[in-house]
Amino acid sequence: MNIAILGDIHANLPALETVLAALDARGDIDATYHIGDLVGYAPWPNETVALINARGIAGVSGNYDSTVALNYKHCGCTYDDARQEALSHLSFEWTKSHTSVDAKRALGELPFSLTLRPFGGHAAGPSVVLVHGTPTLNTVYWHADRSDDFCRQMAALMSLKAGDVTVFGHTHKTWHRVVDGIHFVNAGSVGRPKDGDPRTGYVRLSLSAKEVEVEFVRIPYDVHAAAAGILASTLPNEYAEYLRTGGTRSAPADSPPQLPRTE
Ligand SMILES: [Fe+2]
Repeated sequence: MNIAILGDIHANLPALETVLAALDARGDIDATYHIGDLVGYAPWPNETVALINARGIAGVSGNYDSTVALNYKHCGCTYDDARQEALSHLSFEWTKSHTSVDAKRALGELPFSLTLRPFGGHAAGPSVVLVHGTPTLNTVYWHADRSDDFCRQMAALMSLKAGDVTVFGHTHKTWHRVVDGIHFVNAGSVGRPKDGDPRTGYVRLSLSAKEVEVEFVRIPYDVHAAAAGILASTLPNEYAEYLRTGGTRSAPADSPPQLPRTE
């Protein structure tokens, strides 16, 4: 059984469309899920939510989803870089004001976590638990350098046992580690990778009653179309360069944060 998981899409419609077309073309995917952060940073929040819903792709609530849905004061994003921190506030205000009532309602209805039993609850086989950040908060970053003990603590909160899988995102960087037989998988980001690789992508879980295989698939997409959409919007122009460079460069370090243009 093959399950595809889509990491942080962040309103990048060209990237999402490319991933969905790739999944359709391979023809061996039994189910597709997302792990939240459907909106933010790119100019297609409503189209992204509509496409995810039209395709019947279930998923969980990212910090961006829950805070936009509630018109909260802050997206819960954290940046070491003060410049990116300032820009993130601009993106959040833009997204709150450009996301429709219907889309906000859909974002607000996303569950905090999802537990899958791909082989049925009556049969042996792995459980797969989806969360955005961690099982306690969707704003906590679960980076690859977290200790094995941290992973064990999170696994206990999700009642995971050897052979089970948890998939999460939020950091926009893929990684996979096995601790005590439990698979910990960061799905990376469909629409805003931060690992220096601007390609989009997804995670494929290949599951049998006793085996778990994890594959990170990266796909080129029309990043220039995504960048052009940002430049044509009133989002910070620097997000276009961010996408083109896979999150490694957004603007010269000495230039001030760009303020949003008025529409
Ligand atoms: Fe995110």
